[in-house]
Amino acid sequence: MTTVSDTDPIDAPALLRGFVSLRWLARMYPSGHPVIAQKLDELYALAQAHLQQHDKLTIDVIRGEVHLDGAASRDDGTAPATAQATRELAALGVDSLHISAGVERDEIRLAAQFLDYVKENASVETLERRLAAQGITHINFGRIVPLDTRWRARQWPDAPTSPLDPIYAQSLVAAEQAFETVASGGTLDAVTVRDLVQLLIGEVVRSNAALGQILALKEYENLTYCHSVNVAILSLLLARQLGLDDATTFVLVEAALLHDIGKTRVPLEIVKKPGALTRAERKLIEAHTTFGAEILMETPGLNPIAPVVALEHHRELREGGYPDLGQGVAPHAMSQIVSVADCYEAMTGARTYREPLRPEQACLVLARQAGTKFNTALVKAFVAAVTFFPLGSLVRTSCDELGVVVRTNPSDPLHPVLGLITDDFERLLGEVDTSVRDREGAYERQIVSTLPPREHALDLTKLLPSSASLARSA
Ligand SMILES: [Fe+2]
Repeated sequence: MTTVSDTDPIDAPALLRGFVSLRWLARMYPSGHPVIAQKLDELYALAQAHLQQHDKLTIDVIRGEVHLDGAASRDDGTAPATAQATRELAALGVDSLHISAGVERDEIRLAAQFLDYVKENASVETLERRLAAQGITHINFGRIVPLDTRWRARQWPDAPTSPLDPIYAQSLVAAEQAFETVASGGTLDAVTVRDLVQLLIGEVVRSNAALGQILALKEYENLTYCHSVNVAILSLLLARQLGLDDATTFVLVEAALLHDIGKTRVPLEIVKKPGALTRAERKLIEAHTTFGAEILMETPGLNPIAPVVALEHHRELREGGYPDLGQGVAPHAMSQIVSVADCYEAMTGARTYREPLRPEQACLVLARQAGTKFNTALVKAFVAAVTFFPLGSLVRTSCDELGVVVRTNPSDPLHPVLGLITDDFERLLGEVDTSVRDREGAYERQIVSTLPPREHALDLTKLLPSSASLARSA
């Protein structure tokens, strides 16, 4: 066993077990009951024993084993009871418990009661805020994902592995080069950026196959340059939906393409770190906004909106997010657009520690945060632009048919036109319009489920018309 200090470490498993039993006791007895008071005394004393020597007490459960401040705890012979407690905590979405010096006795009781609500909204920032709203400022929970996550998480490829629409592939190569230049200390070339923006506006957005690949769930770790190209295209779709003029759209797409350029100044191992971030690491990640603004301000030839969007794209509509820009400062309209596109893209992309969300699920998350995190009008426009069933979605209908969304019905976004395909995904059988109704006015068929792409070997480029064939048919 490794000790964490020159004094004996506290019994961390006992603290965890006590915390879990306090949750049960708080359900059964009023807060002032002696049983609660006794359990609180016990937990408070344990926590204080550690906090007298250290600023912070961190307990992590890694593969079922309890760690105190990063060191495995001693085996106290009560493993089954500890295992039960750690299982209960894991089911509640909690793998780590942080208590800092200054903790009050009653905060421990409130935190134990809060355990039932941790899962509701798992983001780190939101959780801290929600705890603070309950008066809990010295205790925090986390779903830690140990550095070695291979035992529990999928290893995603770094970049797309399936065949890409050629124009989309070309834009990814150009973006990768631009980002690489900045990462290696070079200067961003505004002319290269302009060419790329023109490629996105002129070609990529006209390719159904490319759009299908951008909108769909993505089974690869979304490296910054892929993410940036996708966010630029999604912002462009939103601009079209909003009816922005060409000059404004150009400025928006340029800003969207460069919004995360500051990540080139954050070490990749932190950007990609699967585990819980330390406070210092989180600060460094958050600093990609200010780094980005700095880089873009130093780049001649860019529109002055680009650094503004880089700075503000993690600001929420109502005062949350980062960096802190002072009270009452609403993000620029373009930052608000990029922030919707950014969030959708991040949710539909894979991360080492979580599966990507399907497009319609990501749209629902955006809808839930409309009005607080995002501008409601922009979320509505975005969902209308991408639709719940984006081009390229693979779906099953109520008639047990397998189909690919090939066109959307603007007046009825939940009922797109499908290209029906054979179960081996090889052949297109013909098109059906799911918005068609029968004599009673009921839909002839409904989409009953969407299928994640990894369950099949679907090559979208074979089934969707490419920009070239679109141009021919125009
Ligand atoms: Fe960002």
